[in-house]
Amino acid sequence: MLEDEFGREVSGVRVSLTDRCNFDCVYCHNEGLGDTRGPMDPQDDELSTDTVVRFLEVAREYGVEAVKFTGGEPMLRDDLEEIVRRAPDDMAVSMTTNGTFLPGRAEALVDAGLERVNVSQDALDADAFAELTQSGAYERVLEGVEAALDAGLAPVKLNMVVFEPTAGYVPGMVDHVAANDGLQLQLIEYMPELAGHPEWAIDIQRVHDWLEDRADHVETREMHDRKRYFVSSDAETAEAAQTAATDGGVRAGDGLGMVEIVDPVGNAEFCANCHRVRLAHDGYLKGCLNRNDDLVAIGETKAAMRDAFEKTVAERVPYYGEYLVEDDEGGWTMNEAYLDSKGDRTPYEYADE
Ligand code: 5AD
Repeated sequence: MLEDEFGREVSGVRVSLTDRCNFDCVYCHNEGLGDTRGPMDPQDDELSTDTVVRFLEVAREYGVEAVKFTGGEPMLRDDLEEIVRRAPDDMAVSMTTNGTFLPGRAEALVDAGLERVNVSQDALDADAFAELTQSGAYERVLEGVEAALDAGLAPVKLNMVVFEPTAGYVPGMVDHVAANDGLQLQLIEYMPELAGHPEWAIDIQRVHDWLEDRADHVETREMHDRKRYFVSSDAETAEAAQTAATDGGVRAGDGLGMVEIVDPVGNAEFCANCHRVRLAHDGYLKGCLNRNDDLVAIGETKAAMRDAFEKTVAERVPYYGEYLVEDDEGGWTMNEAYLDSKGDRTPYEYADE
């Protein structure tokens, strides 16, 4: 596995297959690339099937163990099943989707080798959902989740972005995963860096505190210092959870739901544990979600892709902690020393030599 200067091994890649989307979520950072929606037909700048597959083979050479497909909406690509099928056999394949195209395709994707899916669902309320996603496809998303479960993709992770407009729906979503085997919940702190609107952000500590109270059992994962909250929907499973916890054996399923909080904003520890490189839909590698000044074109040949991958890893730095540093007031400011050392190379294209 390749390691960057900060000792972070790159074990995963996140590949955006398109920046087209049938939704237009108000919070969307679109992988740091700006506007979503736009034309729904395939666009010329998108990576070809062969290029994506070739890139995954190169990533596998470097020990990358997992790929997550994303977008835009990755299911707008008709060749998604083919890409999944042709991904290296020993690479774990997952996807983040809005769920609307899962009915009718979930099974074929599983046959092709898809192992896990995250579905964005920010509220359990059709009106709120319509407002947040600027689409009316709420029912279709619920059907998509069902289709994923029917196809054997349990546990399905629901992604919920937590910010002013959704904070009130957190308890309902937690109850929802507590009551439904096969569902897990990821509460994702709203990242204003790329989406604008810092005033929408809420103090994520409030959510941690609330969840700590609501949960029947809490587990801390050493690796990422990320907590797992286990929640029950009734007194009986709550009691069973207590007993199991004493025996050290709490698991999701068995009447318990699992909730995690992803809180990257201003979190140097989060960045210190980032093991992922991103490939944008138009063929540029990114060392960090929050940056667009570190783009490296992968080119077409495996030789060019190897160079681009090595270069991206060699140059990636933690966003919080190195690109930004903490000032005296506890805020984050540009690290001038880092910028100076980087020189005049932003953004650049890496030529296919
Ligand atoms: N803040 C936090 N999460 C976001 N996502 C998209 N934009 C943001 C943002 N500004 C997450 C959503 C979606 C996934 C693709 O990215 O949870 O499911």
